[in-house]
Amino acid sequence: MYKRDLVSITDYSLDELEALWTLADDIENHPRRYKSSCNNLKLATLFYEPSTRTRLSHESAMIELGGNVIGFSDAKASSASKGETVADTMKVMSCFADIIAIRHNLEGAAMVAAENSRVPVINAGDGGHSHPTQTLTDLYTIRKNFGRLDNLRIGFCGDLKYGRTVHSLIEAMLRYENVSFVMIAPDELKLPKGLKNNIIDAGAEFVETACLEDALPELDILYMTRIQRERFSDLSVYDRLAGTYILDKEKMQKAKEKMIVMHPLPRVDEISTDVDDDPRIQFFEQVMCGKIIRRALILDLIERGSEEPIRRWEDIDAEGECTNPKCITHHERGLKPKYKRSSNGSLLCAYCDCKIKNE
Ligand code: NCD
Repeated sequence: MYKRDLVSITDYSLDELEALWTLADDIENHPRRYKSSCNNLKLATLFYEPSTRTRLSHESAMIELGGNVIGFSDAKASSASKGETVADTMKVMSCFADIIAIRHNLEGAAMVAAENSRVPVINAGDGGHSHPTQTLTDLYTIRKNFGRLDNLRIGFCGDLKYGRTVHSLIEAMLRYENVSFVMIAPDELKLPKGLKNNIIDAGAEFVETACLEDALPELDILYMTRIQRERFSDLSVYDRLAGTYILDKEKMQKAKEKMIVMHPLPRVDEISTDVDDDPRIQFFEQVMCGKIIRRALILDLIERGSEEPIRRWEDIDAEGECTNPKCITHHERGLKPKYKRSSNGSLLCAYCDCKIKNE
């Protein structure tokens, strides 16, 4: 099936991303030119996990392009509740829609979706794995603020273990020159090892700390995140960690005048509302950027209808299960494992990027 998808942020080359920013700028400056671009086309939003802004951002983007929207916002309202696989749902839904945005609790679900759809698929979040449209939003916001995506020091603070927006943004920023990373998290919520290795292998500067105040003065960007309560198997651990980081007026005094604070939202208590009128706060601007960049993405993917799809696995003669219990390979009937190699040669699950047992 010829078409392009956005399963991972690396599905788009740096040149393709550049073209996307140009298209987004044009859409922002001349919205009327694009108001009928998707006339008679349908976006299906298949949301198996709760969402407000990501789903509505995709839907409003499609409506502003003149298109229509179908779908569901609760797994209970879909045939998944009757036991249907993601693959079957996609084979069916892609007969009804011209483009599909899917959010799923299982890691790697978006790749299964893309492989079984006749139309372009957008990954709107697959468990704790990745969230590339939030990353497009974040990159576009950074570019608007700094005029560049290289030569930046970015601090990620909060839930670096489960925060999929963090994982995707790191993957994206690693492709730009001279970006350094400061990871601010308690021990229990540190960045997954595989991702940490990717940063080290890429040769980027990387510091881990538990102290937000110490890291703040050096940062160009502070990316705050919510502690992801729904992903903890033991809620007593969540209760102990909740409220670990709270950005307030006092802490903001330690930051550079030109630093920006980003957050994928929703915020819980990690950023005090008393800093909302500080011009460095950019998370509501991020939401606007998200709507513009999703309009550009939908248009771009629809126009790429005849392109060769991205191949996300390698022909490796191997056996062995994925070590990640939240990976779709453990839950979807009839799904065969697919493998790839990491930059340091270890065998990974192509669906969720986790290690393979006994490797
Ligand atoms: C994030 C998500 O769903 O991963 N939100 C979003 O999409 N804007 C972050 C979160 O839920 O904490």
